[in-house]
Amino acid sequence: MKSLIVGNWKMNPATLREAKLLFDASRKAADRAPHVSVVVAPPSIFIRDLKTRYKGKKIAFAAQHARAESGGAYTGDVSLAQYKDAGCSYVIIGHAERRALGETDEDTGKKTAAALALKLTPILCVGETKRGSGGEHFDVVRAQLRAGLLGVEPAQLGRVVIAYEPVWTIGKTEAMSPANMHEMAIFIRKSVVDAKGPSGMGIKILYGGSVDETSAPEMLRNGDVHGLLVGRASEEGAKFTALLQAIEYAA
Ligand code: PGA
Repeated sequence: MKSLIVGNWKMNPATLREAKLLFDASRKAADRAPHVSVVVAPPSIFIRDLKTRYKGKKIAFAAQHARAESGGAYTGDVSLAQYKDAGCSYVIIGHAERRALGETDEDTGKKTAAALALKLTPILCVGETKRGSGGEHFDVVRAQLRAGLLGVEPAQLGRVVIAYEPVWTIGKTEAMSPANMHEMAIFIRKSVVDAKGPSGMGIKILYGGSVDETSAPEMLRNGDVHGLLVGRASEEGAKFTALLQAIEYAA
């Protein structure tokens, strides 16, 4: 099966010219990686330009953050429907950096259901901010999954992607170990099955947090994941190329 690699550019780069260069490098790298499905999440203001120039099918576009409402008085925000109209087929929901700015579990539930209704693929991010010795991180992740999937029908679970991103690994130097990810993947599937029934067994799971070309192949081999959510390693053409090549060679 192909690995799903989602590159979250966050608030980078500064100009459309640079965004085009990064996209072109990503496109070339994606074309040389037939075992990888590539999704990029550029800043909202660049998406339509990049999508309009791109004639290929290999790369899909994601929104980094969106509102569930179809319209209204939400100064500065962009709706799911607007992202869809701009060419997105995925949306990242509940990223740790948005949760830190006030996005709640309840918000993620509304957005996940609204995204599915619009035929967008939600990438629901979950993950604890810190790990103690008492296993509290499992409670955090279970609660985030329950709230985020609240309005999702069991039959829709095949169209949902869960991104497990332990917040203590985001923007750091090292990814979590594949063994720890494997344990968490089992827990995520169990939690989804408990909440939604047996169709939860097949839910797609990504890992995110300081992934690079060194850690990616082993995480995909031993972490029990379908893919990766990548920040910094997608924000430079050379790094993203190295990442996709490392995954392709290991496939
Ligand atoms: P990072 O970001 O790969 O730069 O750690 C991951 C993320 O925020 O999704």
